[in-house]
Amino acid sequence: MRIGVPVETAAAERRVALVPDSVARLVKAGHQVRVQRGAGAGAFHSDAEYQKAGATLVDGAAVFSDVDLVSKVRAPSAQEASALLSGTALVALLQPAANVELFSSLASRNVTAFALELVPRITRAQSMDVLSSQATVAGYKAVLLGAAELPKLLPMLTTAAGTLAPSKVFVIGAGVAGLQAIATARRLGASVSGFDIRAAAGEQVKSLGASFLSSEVVSQSAEDKGGYAKAQAEDERQRTLDTIHKHIVSQDMVITTAQIPNRPAPKLITDEMVAAMRPGSVIVDIAADTGGNTTLTKPGETVRSNGVTVIAPLNLAATEPVHASQMFSKNVETFINHIAREGSLKVDLADEITKAMAITHDGELLRK
Ligand code: NAI
Repeated sequence: MRIGVPVETAAAERRVALVPDSVARLVKAGHQVRVQRGAGAGAFHSDAEYQKAGATLVDGAAVFSDVDLVSKVRAPSAQEASALLSGTALVALLQPAANVELFSSLASRNVTAFALELVPRITRAQSMDVLSSQATVAGYKAVLLGAAELPKLLPMLTTAAGTLAPSKVFVIGAGVAGLQAIATARRLGASVSGFDIRAAAGEQVKSLGASFLSSEVVSQSAEDKGGYAKAQAEDERQRTLDTIHKHIVSQDMVITTAQIPNRPAPKLITDEMVAAMRPGSVIVDIAADTGGNTTLTKPGETVRSNGVTVIAPLNLAATEPVHASQMFSKNVETFINHIAREGSLKVDLADEITKAMAITHDGELLRK
């Protein structure tokens, strides 16, 4: 199979879909890999490294038109998509809910599109799970951003100049990113607490040495079959806000990660709560990509209100492109191996993983 690795053209995107180590393994398995010159530059992989791994360097649109499968990080631009030929497969973060026009164009041109966001949360697909690998990076980086902004140190220090109390870090949403944020804040010595509406998250938070904020809104039924949180009814939401409000007033740093699939992020921190926080406190809202968890969040910007700083970074994984690309690449490589049978692309829609991720195939839009 001929696999193309284009330069990422989205703003501030520094990741690359396949790193040289993956390319070497794919070439060893009998595939041909064509890398657009400069594709790895943002993640510090030179063209020479790709050549050494067995890739062919290509220029311009050949990376889209002269291959069987294009592996990208972000969705292609309209111009890039128009270079894809009939029968080509595309594997990328395609934002299935937001790119309706792109999909009808891909379907009409007989391109098979796989959205990496749609990997099913099953054990067999864990090594293809880009959402998890990139959320791990985001959770880690969120704590570093918050620590850099905080006018205090995180750990408890006993010094000749007196004892410093540890800073208090509160993580809302204990999924993949939240648990990594908790682990990172713990490693930096903070006193950490976590909250989630899924009961299963409680043990995971505690296993990392943090306390779990108990509340009657935490329940088994807050979780759907896929392990994701469900949207809360208004009365439950109000009780969640009350729980958070009571706790947040004593915190130094709050990391918010709460998401509901295919919906805007739930608003869990109100202006009133921010006003009640201690001046100098910092909120890092990594749900900003889907609107954010605070009412003050301005995605991509930093807002200051009553001495509280609200940072709302976008696409955090791209700010650590080396390790983010390494994990992304391993996820994509595993998926390519899954859909390549005997050296060529076999789209088996009876397979649970392939079916879940395919958005277009054989000229049809498979999801409305
Ligand atoms: P996510 O990014 O969709 O959401 C982040 C967290 O926000 C979740 O833990 C969610 O419960 C929480 N949340 C939503 N609404 C909330 C609210 N109102 N208040 C507080 N917290 C709220 O979730 P992520 O990180 O993608 O993980 C979702 C689930 O999938 C987890 O149970 C995770 O363990 C599971 N998972 C399973 C995998 C597998 O089996 N292969 C792989 C990765 C995750």
